Amino acid sequence: MSLSPTDLPAVRAALLAWFGRSGRALPWRVGPEGGRDPYRVWVSEVLLQQTQVARGRVYFERFLGAFPTVEALAAAPIEAVLKAWEGCGYYARARNLHRAAGVIVREGMPTTHDGWRALPGVGPYTAAAVASLAFGEARAVSDGNVRRVLARLHGERQPTDGWVQARADALLDPARPAAFNEAVMDLGATVCTPRNPRCPECPVRPWCAASRSGEPSTFPAPKLRAAVREVRAVALLLGNGHEAVLERREGTLLGGLMGLPTEIIAEGEREEDALTRLAERLGVTVTGDLGTVTHIMTHRLVLLNVFTGRGGPARRDKVADAALSRLDHKALALWRARQGSLFAEA
Ligand code: ADE
Repeated sequence: MSLSPTDLPAVRAALLAWFGRSGRALPWRVGPEGGRDPYRVWVSEVLLQQTQVARGRVYFERFLGAFPTVEALAAAPIEAVLKAWEGCGYYARARNLHRAAGVIVREGMPTTHDGWRALPGVGPYTAAAVASLAFGEARAVSDGNVRRVLARLHGERQPTDGWVQARADALLDPARPAAFNEAVMDLGATVCTPRNPRCPECPVRPWCAASRSGEPSTFPAPKLRAAVREVRAVALLLGNGHEAVLERREGTLLGGLMGLPTEIIAEGEREEDALTRLAERLGVTVTGDLGTVTHIMTHRLVLLNVFTGRGGPARRDKVADAALSRLDHKALALWRARQGSLFAEA
């Protein structure tokens, strides 16, 4: 059997029945189907764009604990928002959440896809998710899970974004868009997994071309990855693992966040020269080398060599109060590890 337009009602019914039995209870899924709290849905969808659900739940509870309502978020200083976002990556998303919360408080909560789409940082995915899950609008979401489920169902190895959206729109149950979208997401996350899909448990297996092929996990074909660029940098830890000189980063490497004073090692430049540049900028004498930390971002591998120094600015900032990237936390952990080994030696 292959999927034809006449199958769509049966596929929808099978999916929705499965969702009724096996859908996940998640902290943002409170309230009636298609009538959830739009603020919770919105925050969860922004978080889940870069985080798996297990970790996303923890971040969600933390963020909602800090800002339980859109009014609380809008009223908070941006530094507090970035602090609550710590570890979630892509700080531009936190800045946009904060900006959009301000718009919502001034102009009212949008209730349609187009209204959400007009807010800062709200793309087609988030607008479709909030419109369907919180307002019951018939909009199909299209993310990585949806892409995989539909590619397999139709036996498509190279699905384009347009293809996925068109298939999702065609399959969407217009009477139950919220449950339908969550059903496809959950199926992709728990049954139609990237590796070793659990086809025997799948409600839409009778229609699935990839399952019939005997090699379901080969659909869709892996996307060609953009090359990962290596960025090397030097940093100075002036202070200790708890209080240190922090600067606001500029440029493309974690720009906008606070972090240890850092200089990027230019293409072909020697590390000593970048370190000299950094030390001169701060008026510091370098006293030691704590080691290197690495951090993988979407298209970048950062190698940061962390040094200690004497002199320079007298101020010390409390590490716990600042919104720091994971890279800086790793750098500060080097100092704490060094203290631990000094005590162990003593
Ligand atoms: N991934 C992205 N959005 C999700 C949602 N609403 N529920 C579960 N997983 C998701």
